[in-house]
Amino acid sequence: MKVVTVVGARPQFVKAAPVSRALRARRHEELLVHTGQHFDDLMSKVFFEELALPAPDVDLGVGSGPHGRQTGAMLAGVEEVLLARRPDVVLVYGDTNSTLAGALAAVKLGLPLAHVEAGLRSFNRAMPEEHNRVLTDHCADLLLCPTRTAVEHLAREGLTRGVHLVGDVMLDAVLAHVARARARPASPADALGLGPKGYLLATVHRPYNTDDPAALRRILEALEAVGEPVVLPVHPRTRARLAGLEGLRLERVRLIDPVGYLDMLRLLDGCRLVLTDSGGVQKEAYFLGVPCVTLRPETEWVETVEAGWNVLAGDDPARIVALARGFAPSGERPATFGDGRAADAVVAALEGA
Ligand code: UD1
Ligand code: UDP
Repeated sequence: MKVVTVVGARPQFVKAAPVSRALRARRHEELLVHTGQHFDDLMSKVFFEELALPAPDVDLGVGSGPHGRQTGAMLAGVEEVLLARRPDVVLVYGDTNSTLAGALAAVKLGLPLAHVEAGLRSFNRAMPEEHNRVLTDHCADLLLCPTRTAVEHLAREGLTRGVHLVGDVMLDAVLAHVARARARPASPADALGLGPKGYLLATVHRPYNTDDPAALRRILEALEAVGEPVVLPVHPRTRARLAGLEGLRLERVRLIDPVGYLDMLRLLDGCRLVLTDSGGVQKEAYFLGVPCVTLRPETEWVETVEAGWNVLAGDDPARIVALARGFAPSGERPATFGDGRAADAVVAALEGA
């Protein structure tokens, strides 16, 4: 089987790694296309190296830009690759502009499209990701769902053909790499003088939390007010917005560059609690048994909330502080994300299609 995989943003490198490995183990031919949406070494190259994801066969080098221009440039670039390669299937991941560009390029050429992480819904149409997901799902021939909830969302939209419950490929990645992360001689927290369970971890990159200066200030001041050290690897979008926040005094919140995947797992594994607006980090916290406070009004990953390991705080400072201090999950973490062999299930579904 000839597969063209389209990736472009940090979480997609993590998701594609286990599937790429499984595809190659079964001797399928994979051409990896990087749209160039994320391009800094710490947002891209480090993930290919640490996750043993083969270097991209094609790098479209599209970079940043307004949504239309960025997505359009990726669409044109992916189309060219697909015309030259005529794969049996085009594989896309998640909900970024790279996902949508890959999906549109495939369907416009009449090529079969498979979507990993199909069926996710936040029901918040103000998020660019929600449009990307809905549109991609409605283009896809194979809808590869991480959870039962995702399958149900699709059914409610009339999508029942080609739907497979495969589990979550991010769990595969965590299970494959957590031992290596733990075995690293040092954690980025060590360099800050912070020991295991002696800090909170935070990430913030959603446009509604970063592009509104008042919201970003509220969140950072709330993190500072918790009263414990907070390690915050800063996404480039957020870094750019921080420059405009005058008079913000952060002492306990330690801003560091984005970290690679292994350092991130290590930081997560060692923190007392995580505060995040990331989709992937909410799940990873659940996989590792780390309490999570989500800096969003809603989440796609409802199972983590239902199980009692994740709680929504939005950008409300009082709620953020109270939950950071007092949220203490107890009990089971049901295996709603599968058994860590989602990548094999993805490949089996592709083979069976
Ligand atoms: C994108 C995805 C989002 C995902 C996130 C993962 C869309 C619409 N959004 O958001 O769903 O959660 O990736 O991190 O696809 N930048 C750099 N260097 C880089 C990458 C980005 O400096 O390597 C800067 C650029 O100034 C850019 C900004 O970050 O304007 C945002 O990047 P972009 O890819 O447009 O969106 P993200 O916020 O990263
Ligand atoms: N991540 C990382 N370094 C960081 C921040 C995040 O390796 O500094 C990883 C994180 O562990 C997860 C993925 O990047 O595997 C999530 O990406 P992000 O939060 O950017 O996107 P989202 O999941 O919200 O789409």
